[in-house]
Amino acid sequence: MIKYVQEQQLFHLMTPNTSYVMALADGEWLGHLYYGPKLDDTTGMENAFRLNEFPFSPKVNERDKVRFMQGFPFEYSFYGTGDYRESCLGAENAHGQRGVELTYRSHSVIAGKVVPEGLPHTRGCEDCCDTLDLLMADDVLGLDVHLLYTVYKDLDVIVKSVRVVNRGEGPCTLTRVLSGQLNADPDSAEVLTLHGSWGRERTITRQRLETGSVSAESLRGVSSAEDSPFLAVLSEGTTQTTGDVWGMSLIYSGNFLAKAQIDQIGQLRCVIGIHPEYFAWPLAPGESFQSPEAALVYSDEGLGKMTRTYHDLYRNHLIEKRWLTQDRPVLVNNWEATMMNFNTDVLIGFARSAKEAGIDMLVMDDGWFGHRDDDTSSLGDWFVDEHKLEGGLKRLVDEVNAMGLKFGLWVEPEMVCEDSELFRAHPDWRFSLQGRKPGALRQQYVLDITRPEVWDGVYSQIKAVLSSANIAYVKWDMNRYLTDVGSLEREPSCQGQLLHRYVLAVYRMQAQLLKDFPDLLLENCSSGGARFDAGMLFYSPQIWTSDDTDAIERLSIQEGTALVFPVSTMGAHVSVVPNQQTGRVVPFNTRAKVAMAGTFGYEMDIRNMDPEEKAQIPGQVAQFRKIHPVNREGDYYRIASFRENHTYDCWMVVKKDRSLAYMTYVQVLAQPNRPGVRVRMQGLDPDAMYEVTCDYDGAMAARNGESSIGPQTTRSLGCFNGGTLMKAGIIVPRVRGDYQALLYEVTKTEG
Ligand code: GLA
Repeated sequence: MIKYVQEQQLFHLMTPNTSYVMALADGEWLGHLYYGPKLDDTTGMENAFRLNEFPFSPKVNERDKVRFMQGFPFEYSFYGTGDYRESCLGAENAHGQRGVELTYRSHSVIAGKVVPEGLPHTRGCEDCCDTLDLLMADDVLGLDVHLLYTVYKDLDVIVKSVRVVNRGEGPCTLTRVLSGQLNADPDSAEVLTLHGSWGRERTITRQRLETGSVSAESLRGVSSAEDSPFLAVLSEGTTQTTGDVWGMSLIYSGNFLAKAQIDQIGQLRCVIGIHPEYFAWPLAPGESFQSPEAALVYSDEGLGKMTRTYHDLYRNHLIEKRWLTQDRPVLVNNWEATMMNFNTDVLIGFARSAKEAGIDMLVMDDGWFGHRDDDTSSLGDWFVDEHKLEGGLKRLVDEVNAMGLKFGLWVEPEMVCEDSELFRAHPDWRFSLQGRKPGALRQQYVLDITRPEVWDGVYSQIKAVLSSANIAYVKWDMNRYLTDVGSLEREPSCQGQLLHRYVLAVYRMQAQLLKDFPDLLLENCSSGGARFDAGMLFYSPQIWTSDDTDAIERLSIQEGTALVFPVSTMGAHVSVVPNQQTGRVVPFNTRAKVAMAGTFGYEMDIRNMDPEEKAQIPGQVAQFRKIHPVNREGDYYRIASFRENHTYDCWMVVKKDRSLAYMTYVQVLAQPNRPGVRVRMQGLDPDAMYEVTCDYDGAMAARNGESSIGPQTTRSLGCFNGGTLMKAGIIVPRVRGDYQALLYEVTKTEG
């Protein structure tokens, strides 16, 4: 609900449990007053602007206007006229001079959402949200700035974006347009970011913020493995269940900046949006620029509640609706098993074994096109290598389909290798800087798909290959960061648009793909999880989380990823041991239990597996099929973190109606003389009775001295009251051996 209080010139945005308050100072400066637990009444709140204190407002004290600009808690800040903190809007006039001053003009409330054209966005009907369009302006530059706030009625979320319109007579250049700002006011703050690298994506990083600033950012052209477009401010000591949390998540897949900063008078400002570095957007009269959306969440019940709010937002209002209820196929992918060394017979062998094991889909990874036997060639040539796939793609797919399996395909449309027909025909299609040979990475270069002929040239090939056979799934990869971002055909003044235009071109291509193939399941990927962001989720309901498939490494990668992104979006597969990235040997059962936390599949040569392990696959698939709907639609609770306790990891998913839950416990390190661990569940109905069963791995039992059971068994622990399970918890038995996983099923009993 959006309320305007005329006497106070105050805007009160209300979600079920939160209030977001802004007001005008002197009738023109838009300031931020509050974001926190819901308020019943806002009377007197504008006192917090301290307008009765020196330096007063410019109307009272024009002599010290700049002092006012330095300290006023602007709702949407601007650069060049006295606010020296990290600001949201910057612009350069036709004389090359920089400076903006935004004041209030008008506002209106729209039922439903304003859709940002060409960008991924949250969705919302007239019944589920309202949007406040707050018009600010700079008359000297001739800029109208629409601050858009979508307020959801059933979710504690506010989605912000900004549209800048040049209604003046001359051109100007936008030098920064961030999506929004958050002015939190904790007594003492910590900042949480999801920092990482290739193979260690989205590791939760917390640091105390006393002075200065902390940021997460990418200048790599994609959201990156190194930082995620997310930042949260926490009151000190926040846990999963206690403390104040303010989260900002950007729905964008390119360069970004998320920054928290304490200013000179102790106020905390956070901004998030497209990274202003190397961004310059000329805006001719009549043109407009739309920023990506940022989703803000406040929780007064710790990180867990923030997580569940983001999960609900992204599942219900961002990802294509059908994926909330539609099952994802269990797949086998040939990459780790064969790399590029395969042919039709090998893949048919995979499909046959997959069918026996109850798997739904075969995915053919990199190496099927051009003459690609290694990474030196063929990106850009999206036609089948008939030497490998004798008889073509259709023959293979038809044969796989005839076995009752779906078929999926890997592509990397944004790239080109020098050794390719595409490059030989169009050497000028890659990004490059005048007079400089672009740098290769993994022997490949980035195509300038911002140019229509390049976009068409690539997309027409992809469309043709997908039309040639029955392809149910596409893994869209992107295996290098951007360098040499120059477009030979663009005006010098437009080069600063390229990084954003590139992202828009990717979005347009994925949108077109889904339009042309509406039943397709798209999984994004970028050297593992380097483009795992809310922008990509708009197009693909799942994203490959990391090339690190080691189940123990995955604990922290998946914990960090699931802090913001729904668990049903995390691509996760069982792979061989010793693990290809770490050399670690983790039991098959544990590898499966960890992969079941996301989408599920196998990334190994299932033709030549240990027969005992192979025999376990149908059971694992059946187990995943039980957990999957709860993962997909239910609530996620982080119970314990190996990252923090250095011993074990534990998480839970609970059906929305609280009738069924699954809790996964992974003992990472065994310790001597240690009793069973007490684990308190979460999210259950405190008044209901639940039966708790535990899935127990036979090998684990044998190590505990119980040799008589088979490879997998289920034990009932009996019935418990939900409140008791949450307050007193259960004792997870001590298990001998490292890397052991236990899965608990918690089912509400009748009556
Ligand atoms: C990336 C992906 C892998 C695989 C390879 C193929 O690294 O993350 O899963 O598809 O590319 O080259």
